[in-house]
Amino acid sequence: MVCLGNICRSPLAEGILKQKIQEKQLDWEVDSAGTSGWHEGELPDQRSIAVAKNHGISILDQRSRPLNTSDLEEFDLILAMDHSNYQNIKKLAKDSRLEEKIDLIMNFAPNEEGTAVPDPYWNDNGFEQVYQMLDRACEGLISAYAKK
Ligand code: 4NP
Repeated sequence: MVCLGNICRSPLAEGILKQKIQEKQLDWEVDSAGTSGWHEGELPDQRSIAVAKNHGISILDQRSRPLNTSDLEEFDLILAMDHSNYQNIKKLAKDSRLEEKIDLIMNFAPNEEGTAVPDPYWNDNGFEQVYQMLDRACEGLISAYAKK
């Protein structure tokens, strides 16, 4: 799960997907990172912590870190929150095999393909909307990949 700062959107995406994985007893590894290292080592944004907590999810174990090229090797799917993240991740992919792992997270939400998860950093009211979008995308991701 990748956004710009790895403090607002991608920590929520990580928390939401991990909760669904636990509920469905799936053996998936999930992590999140930022295309920037601006907030490296920091906790998620207090507003993301609060909205996750409202939905019964703790993201307090997470710390921001920048995405690196080895993540593209290690993980099967690299999911960008918006088109800018997507372009920046692509710059790290050295060949088409790695490029093919990169997708926009909302491509997994039915009828919301191509949509960007808006950056809520400058909008205190945006966090619940971001949560709901990511919840739909993570549900779609599980439907797409979980063995029936
Ligand atoms: P995120 O949000 O990419 O969802 O973590 C942001 C966090 C920090 C900044 C921008 C977006 N910033 O400009 O510091």
